[in-house]
Amino acid sequence: MREYILVQGNGRNIPKEDGIFGINMRAKKMIEEKGQGEVVNGTIGALLDDDGNLLVLDSVTKVYGDMKPEEYAAYAPIGGTPKFKKVLKRAAFGDFVPEDHGLFSEAVATPGGTGGIRNGISNYSAPGDYVLTSDWHWSPYATIAGEIGRRIATFETFVPGSGGELEFSVSNLMDRVEEILLKQNTLVVILNTPAHNPTGYSISEATWGEIIEGLSQILRIEGYEKKAIALYVDVAYIDFAGDEALYRKFLRVFEKCHERLLPIIGYSFSKTLTMYGMRCGGSICLAKSKDVAEEFRQAMEFSSRGSWSNSPRLPQEIVTKIYGDEKLLERVVLERKEIRDLLLERGKAFEKKGKEIGLPMVPYDGGFFVSIPHDNPKEVCRLLEEDGIFLVPLAKGIRVSVASISKEICKSIPEAILEKIKKLV
Ligand SMILES: Cc1ncc(COP(=O)(O)O)c(C=O)c1O
Repeated sequence: MREYILVQGNGRNIPKEDGIFGINMRAKKMIEEKGQGEVVNGTIGALLDDDGNLLVLDSVTKVYGDMKPEEYAAYAPIGGTPKFKKVLKRAAFGDFVPEDHGLFSEAVATPGGTGGIRNGISNYSAPGDYVLTSDWHWSPYATIAGEIGRRIATFETFVPGSGGELEFSVSNLMDRVEEILLKQNTLVVILNTPAHNPTGYSISEATWGEIIEGLSQILRIEGYEKKAIALYVDVAYIDFAGDEALYRKFLRVFEKCHERLLPIIGYSFSKTLTMYGMRCGGSICLAKSKDVAEEFRQAMEFSSRGSWSNSPRLPQEIVTKIYGDEKLLERVVLERKEIRDLLLERGKAFEKKGKEIGLPMVPYDGGFFVSIPHDNPKEVCRLLEEDGIFLVPLAKGIRVSVASISKEICKSIPEAILEKIKKLV
């Protein structure tokens, strides 16, 4: 036992190993002992083919090979190359043009979607502040917040509707926002949609309308004149929800934002162009004034300088090449549709089987994951591991990565999960 401290905890709980990594190691060990066919690894957050190989868009990887050092070896500007910034907006927004909706947008490159979340939190909250997100959420939000001295607060996201099915609770969200804003002047709210990780849920356009109306109303409360909200919309899975144009329609709702409500769209090329390891993404604000948009750009670039400096240039140049060649872009979009269709078939197959047998599920719409609510997820996962099924226990249930297992397995594991749940009753 050491009597002195080197690493400072700083309010963080640093585990000995990453939770999912540990489960993966156990899955690998069982594969060695029993063989690949005896093990289901539903833990991996990347889209794999039915044999467990990473699915990569060929049309994208071909561009890598054609790159010349003079195109990528130099530093990129801190906020991203000017061409990349334009392309980032197009990739994130599709046909949506913020200026047509009275919005001012500025884009800043980040290393993956993670970088944007980090700098979004650091700039729009103060040390010690709460950052609000859904109770079902991607756990790195808490890691990122903790790293920079912030804390995550959550709202109960899904409550049973009149038909008994779980529904997104706008009122729970509003209650938490109002409560936190009593104690702090700015609040970062992170919503991950469409095709939320870990549930696959997508916020509908109608619900988006209620959220924007509700948040704007809170900002109109007497005495709240100095309060402001940064709404970080993490769209990491936007191209794995369904029709790409349809799933961007919600963006127009932001024209109705109160001027002190600032939407920031966090986009990632990790999944959308299968460039996970390239670390490419960005944040784009949709401000009601030029001044707020300019402040966003300056602050986000400043934070980039103070965290990772500039983002990698190579992926910015690759993405710029793809979007600068309409034929190539068409091929990329088509190829992506093929892998998205494969993914959605898996998710729907799981959902269908789950419904048939009465397995409770958080409403799945699309994306890499489905979730099963349970109050003892660790024990359910432990029992499943005995049968060679490796899933991820979360605070409120079990996460299944339909991205990493075949459609056939998606049809068979709901029964296995339900059997273990029944065992624990
Ligand atoms: C919900 C969510 N947001 C953001 C990201 C950002 O990923 P990256 O930094 O790899 O682009 C991920 C990746 O798994 C995610 O699941």
